[in-house]
Amino acid sequence: MNAPAAPYHRLWSDPKDARHNPNGPYNCWAPLETYKRELLRYYGKRYGMRTFIETGTSDGDTVCALHDSFDEVYSIELSQWHYDLAFGLFGHIPNVHLYCGDSGVVLREILRAIPASPTLFWLDAHGGRTGPLQAELDAVFAYRDSGVIMIDDLQDFWLHDWRAITERAAAAHPDWTYSLVHECIGLFVKEEA
Ligand SMILES: C[S@@+](CC[C@H](N)C(=O)[O-])C[C@H]1O[C@@H](n2cnc3c(N)ncnc32)[C@H](O)[C@@H]1O
Repeated sequence: MNAPAAPYHRLWSDPKDARHNPNGPYNCWAPLETYKRELLRYYGKRYGMRTFIETGTSDGDTVCALHDSFDEVYSIELSQWHYDLAFGLFGHIPNVHLYCGDSGVVLREILRAIPASPTLFWLDAHGGRTGPLQAELDAVFAYRDSGVIMIDDLQDFWLHDWRAITERAAAAHPDWTYSLVHECIGLFVKEEA
């Protein structure tokens, strides 16, 4: 099974934007969001993952696209406004579980509470320079000894620390295979022993 080819779109950053890296390029290519959802379905199927956990629900587009490809779908959102929006749209679907709170905290609580079934993690709760990524990765490595973790938006474009946090986690957990997909998505894989 080969991963589908990526259609790209151009990302632009205004050099006056505080997130812009003054030493780096101010535009780059990134895979389309619709393609990323295809990629999530692909890795879920390839590694037999039946549970999907997302951080950063936003409008719920990924929940909408993936809830019929997994047995259970969990998603965590910090913003009450986005949570209410997604809950109104998808809260009635029996296998969709939506949470409002900081994913750096809530993810740990979910992992403590649910059975450890094969899980695909989509870490996409980005905010600020560091965001909750370190706490999210700590939670997954503490509570799961196999699975697939995908981290969005690691392109060397924005002035944030997400790629460095991910690469440090890869160095600290060599039993998980790490690669960067399409120069943008961090991918950790550890199959069940
Ligand atoms: C890039 S969007 C997510 C897009 C969504 N995953 C999708 O695929 O359509 C990032 C979201 O993360 C949320 N977010 C930021 N920090 C967060 C945190 N600490 N905990 C949970 N959500 C957070 C933001 O409010 C925003 O809605």
